Amino acid sequence: MYLLEYGGEDDAFAAVESRHAATSVTRVAPGLAVANALVPERVRGLAYTRAASDLVGRTDASVASARALLEAASIDREGTVAVRATDVHGSSGVSTTHAERELGSVLVDRGFAVDLEDPDHALRAVFSEGRLESDANTNADDGRDDLIESVASGESGERVSVCALGWLAAESVRDFGSRAPTDKPFFQPGSMDPLLARAVANIAGAEPGRTILDPMCGTGGVLVEAGLVGADVVGTDAQAKMVAGARTNLAHFLDREDPSPTGVPRGSWHVARGDGTRLPLRDGAIDAVVFDAPYGRQSKIETHRLADLVSGALTESRRVADRAVVVADRSWANEARDAGWTLEAAFERRVHRSLTRYVLVLS
Ligand SMILES: C[S@@+](CC[C@H](N)C(=O)[O-])C[C@H]1O[C@@H](n2cnc3c(N)ncnc32)[C@H](O)[C@@H]1O
Repeated sequence: MYLLEYGGEDDAFAAVESRHAATSVTRVAPGLAVANALVPERVRGLAYTRAASDLVGRTDASVASARALLEAASIDREGTVAVRATDVHGSSGVSTTHAERELGSVLVDRGFAVDLEDPDHALRAVFSEGRLESDANTNADDGRDDLIESVASGESGERVSVCALGWLAAESVRDFGSRAPTDKPFFQPGSMDPLLARAVANIAGAEPGRTILDPMCGTGGVLVEAGLVGADVVGTDAQAKMVAGARTNLAHFLDREDPSPTGVPRGSWHVARGDGTRLPLRDGAIDAVVFDAPYGRQSKIETHRLADLVSGALTESRRVADRAVVVADRSWANEARDAGWTLEAAFERRVHRSLTRYVLVLS
């Protein structure tokens, strides 16, 4: 079993993204999930998962229990060790320095040498307390609870107190700050944050050998993130300025021989001027579509009413692919169903007071 540490506030969304890298993901406490198996290279490319570890075991969120758990565990490892403790959102009130000292002494008693700078094995000790939200799925169509993590339910779930111990197996590469929209060669207001862009690319299934399309690619934010985890990417946009800008950004981040920071070869890219409701692509030519629908007030909408544009793009997406992830400032769930999609999951992500982003996962 593995332990997944999520990074942000929205565990349900993080859980759906982490299923790109792990199987049988189950949330066990705020910020924490367990999984049956994982692909370390994919963990490196996750946005909302920070780390994955080989699970040693779970107990309640106290240092004494964590100590007892480690004393009882079998440890099939050689080399130097370090303990790194965290208290998720400061929820358990456990002293992480005390925890590191106590667990470190258990390891020393069992004959391990400590190397805090560069250990051969890092033991993660994660403490978390709080309510585990229920996985409501009222917006989803088929009731497949294994797939559907969230629609904000407003209900408060069971209260849990957890300490999980695990040997660090893989960490995600935290280089998103270097791709802030304003730091890219081409910038326009309304560009998607690279963290969300990476997450939606992962949920769409971006990986080497797969092709991801953004039919309204704007500055190419989603395509850059999908390309950096190895997918081949295709973009269209109605505006010539955006096409030129997306090309500049994609060339900057993907036209390089060295592997991407996540360790995979960078994907190939193609961007053309085109109408997202009439794609120049064969049926089924694409593995998955991701798009960030215009927000009416922000992006310039070429030739269509917003609802017609989104409906048309959803229908065309269904023709060329059998999976899609749609980001927008409203739900568009009915339009997605009308276009022949099944709603796998839906999320509302509050960006700031006047902007909520909706994410629909469609298959
Ligand atoms: C919200 S922006 C996408 C932003 C993008 N995710 C980014 O990070 O830059 C929506 C884009 O849709 C494009 N667009 C509007 N109508 C279109 C249409 N009919 N076909 C294709 N693109 C269209 C706009 O030019 C705009 O670039």
